[in-house]
Amino acid sequence: MEVLYIFFVGLLFSQGTALLIDDKRALLDFVNNLPHSRSLNWYEYSSVCNNWTGVTCSEDGSRVIAVRLPGVGFQGPIPPNTLSRLSALQILSLRSNGVTGTFPSDFYNLKNLSLLYLQYNNFSGPLPSNFSVWKNLTILNLSNNAFNGSIPYSISNLTQLAALNLANNSLSGEIPDLHWPNLQQLNLSNNNLTGTVPTSLQNFPSSVFIGNNVSLANSTFRESPLFSPSNQPNPKSKNAGKLSETALLGIIVAGCVLGLIAFAFLLLVCCLRRRAENGFLGKLEKGEMSPEKAISRGQDANNRMVFFEGCNYAFDLEDLLRASAEVLGKGTFGMAYKAILEDATTVVVKRLKEVSVGKREFEQQMEMVGSIKHDNVIQLRAYYYSKDEKLMVYDYYSQGSVAAMLHGKRGEERIPLDWETRLRIAIGAARGIACIHAENNGKLVHGNIKSSNVFLNSRQHGCVSDLGLSIIMSSLAPPIARAAGYRAPEVTDTRKASQPSDVYSFGVLLLELLTGKSPVHATGGDEVIHLVRWVHSVVREEWTAEVFDVELLRYPNIEEEMVEMLQIAMSCVVRMPDQRPKMLEVVKMIENVGRAEYENRPSSEAKSENSTPPPQVFGTELSVPQ
Ligand SMILES: *[C@@H]1O[C@H](CO)[C@@H](O)[C@H](O)[C@H]1NC(C)=O
Ligand SMILES: *[C@@H]1O[C@H](CO)[C@@H](O)[C@H](O)[C@H]1NC(C)=O
Ligand SMILES: *[C@@H]1O[C@H](CO)[C@@H](O)[C@H](O)[C@H]1NC(C)=O
Ligand SMILES: *[C@@H]1O[C@H](CO)[C@@H](O)[C@H](O)[C@H]1NC(C)=O
Ligand SMILES: *[C@@H]1O[C@H](CO)[C@@H](O)[C@H](O)[C@H]1NC(C)=O
Ligand SMILES: *[C@@H]1O[C@H](CO)[C@@H](O)[C@H](O)[C@H]1NC(C)=O
Ligand SMILES: *[C@@H]1O[C@H](CO)[C@@H](O)[C@H](O)[C@H]1NC(C)=O
Ligand SMILES: *[C@@H]1O[C@H](CO)[C@@H](O)[C@H](O)[C@H]1NC(C)=O
Ligand SMILES: *[C@@H]1O[C@H](CO)[C@@H](O)[C@H](O)[C@H]1NC(C)=O
Ligand SMILES: *[C@@H]1O[C@H](CO)[C@@H](O)[C@H](O)[C@H]1NC(C)=O
Ligand SMILES: *[C@@H]1O[C@H](CO)[C@@H](O)[C@H](O)[C@H]1NC(C)=O
Ligand SMILES: *[C@@H]1O[C@H](CO)[C@@H](O)[C@H](O)[C@H]1NC(C)=O
Repeated sequence: MEVLYIFFVGLLFSQGTALLIDDKRALLDFVNNLPHSRSLNWYEYSSVCNNWTGVTCSEDGSRVIAVRLPGVGFQGPIPPNTLSRLSALQILSLRSNGVTGTFPSDFYNLKNLSLLYLQYNNFSGPLPSNFSVWKNLTILNLSNNAFNGSIPYSISNLTQLAALNLANNSLSGEIPDLHWPNLQQLNLSNNNLTGTVPTSLQNFPSSVFIGNNVSLANSTFRESPLFSPSNQPNPKSKNAGKLSETALLGIIVAGCVLGLIAFAFLLLVCCLRRRAENGFLGKLEKGEMSPEKAISRGQDANNRMVFFEGCNYAFDLEDLLRASAEVLGKGTFGMAYKAILEDATTVVVKRLKEVSVGKREFEQQMEMVGSIKHDNVIQLRAYYYSKDEKLMVYDYYSQGSVAAMLHGKRGEERIPLDWETRLRIAIGAARGIACIHAENNGKLVHGNIKSSNVFLNSRQHGCVSDLGLSIIMSSLAPPIARAAGYRAPEVTDTRKASQPSDVYSFGVLLLELLTGKSPVHATGGDEVIHLVRWVHSVVREEWTAEVFDVELLRYPNIEEEMVEMLQIAMSCVVRMPDQRPKMLEVVKMIENVGRAEYENRPSSEAKSENSTPPPQVFGTELSVPQ
């Protein structure tokens, strides 16, 4: 029985892997027979599902279901009998390459295809004649190629179609009358189409058809009952004033029904608009950038999304722009969005404003930042640079930032951040910053340390984000109050952030963890309190216990550790930059705090003698930073 079972499972397993091996072979045959300029990490010995750029497998890892290779620099026709062997393929993007030849007829084998992006290539010849094969096709983008001939009537069989773009080809003939219930986007512009626009497509704006020889049929003003107000006397009806009661009743009922219909219609329009606005595209639309512009620039092989090694996100700018998105917050250097892609991948996208350097410098800085791989530094996954738009892509941390954890709604349901967690946040963030300070020959600066840029990694230690941006951004002239709370007194220009000023900002973060107070906060009245100044004043009056977060007071036996941590924080926020400890020293000091977790502490460094003793702060006159 058991043997049989094992045999059976083995059979299933080998069948699964056999199909995957076929898929892998097909992909290798494809890429080895089509010259391309960008190298792909498609190694025979590595796992196709986890490590190959642009390849996505089914959830059970048995088949390849998506291939996205935009802007790889392919040149030439698609080798026959290669991609077409990926019979489970659902998404194919070869956008923005130099693929030539006719539409591959063997794509008829890809029966599960639902998204096909071939725009910005050099395809020519006729469109496929039998679209009926792809019953699940929802997005078809063949724009910006050299397809000619007519639009085959079989395209009307694509009942799932939501978006069709055939713009910028050389298509001729008439537009078939298409009855697609789901069609939301259409563009047939800049072809050689003739005839009249079929009625089923007349609700699309005329820009969809520009650059053709088509006439828009006379849109005869529909005799909609909505537009003939029943309370106005109808000139044709001489009996208008003498309506019978039943007729009146009928009109009232009809009016109510129509009102309801109109109301439902308005609701629907609102919903649709809301949905569009929730998309990333919608977000960008509301901003100053025209998404069209961003996409078209994205097509340019020089302006593509750049992914860092070891990242196997498989999406391109277009997928990103199409993703649904919500605003996470307004950061120092721009807006941050949470973007959920079609395949449920969730990422954080930061949209930088006021980048002051050119493309080369930007890329150099990104490469440096992206090369940092450390447990306590949130890795930059990808970036995008074009004249109008600069984006950075990070992993999404569902727990939210330390700022949200500390200052989120305090109330009954709130789970307070306990002392252990705060210690782990502090030690993690300190290690992350120390790692950053070791980069670029020990010259890299974080430049924007604050609690909203600190998150919890999988081991619940702090990890820092948003580094290395200050020097590529324009100076933020009027100090934003919030950031000012973290800014060292000597930093008058955000671009002049330094490692000692990072130490200062980290000190403020420590004070925030200890006090539970924002670095700049209002008291009951109009007065604005600067955290560093406030702590100084309380400590000076020797009310030390008063500074700690009330939420921490419930935990026993931590007072000593809190005081030690307070001393470290105070040493970081001293006014003179050269009197502040180095980040590596701060790490050691925190590691030495009471029971700070031991698991990670390199034993040789524990209680190291050469760590600077925390400066004496209590009872001494302290300078108060501005
Ligand atoms: C995938 O790549 C990572 C490094 O990027 C490597 O450690 C891992 O072994 C690779 N996996 C396979 C199955 O090749
Ligand atoms: C196509 O998709 C359906 C459902 O998603 C699946 O059952 C079927 O096996 C797929 N076809 C192939 C050839 O993988
Ligand atoms: C497409 O083909 C035309 C001529 O056939 C050529 O001039 C153009 O450079 C090609 N474009 C690409 C991206 O290969
Ligand atoms: C089409 O997609 C639906 C759901 O997405 C799936 O159930 C169906 O099997 C697919 N059909 C084909 C032919 O791929
Ligand atoms: C097109 O494909 C569909 C589905 O595969 C098939 O039923 C039909 O006969 C084909 N039509 C032509 C003209 O080849
Ligand atoms: C399409 O273009 C090819 C050359 O690229 C030409 O031979 C063919 O006649 C054209 N077809 C139509 C319908 O214009
Ligand atoms: C539409 O699909 C049906 C069934 O697959 C097929 O018989 C018919 O020929 C298709 N129509 C066109 C115009 O291809
Ligand atoms: C198709 O590609 C064009 C050009 O890249 C783009 O503007 C358009 O949004 C795309 N349409 C769809 C439906 O993907
Ligand atoms: C068609 O080409 C023109 C000029 O190259 C471009 O401005 C336009 O955006 C293209 N249309 C689409 C839908 O890609
Ligand atoms: C458009 O079609 C007309 C005739 O139908 C032809 O003379 C003309 O060359 C075509 N233009 C393009 C750009 O294909
Ligand atoms: C269609 O594409 C043309 C350029 O080719 C553009 O001007 C027009 O705005 C597009 N229409 C829509 C609705 O996207
Ligand atoms: C549109 O209306 C004009 C007159 O109003 C008429 O001359 C023309 O033929 C009509 N066109 C179509 C396509 O019906």
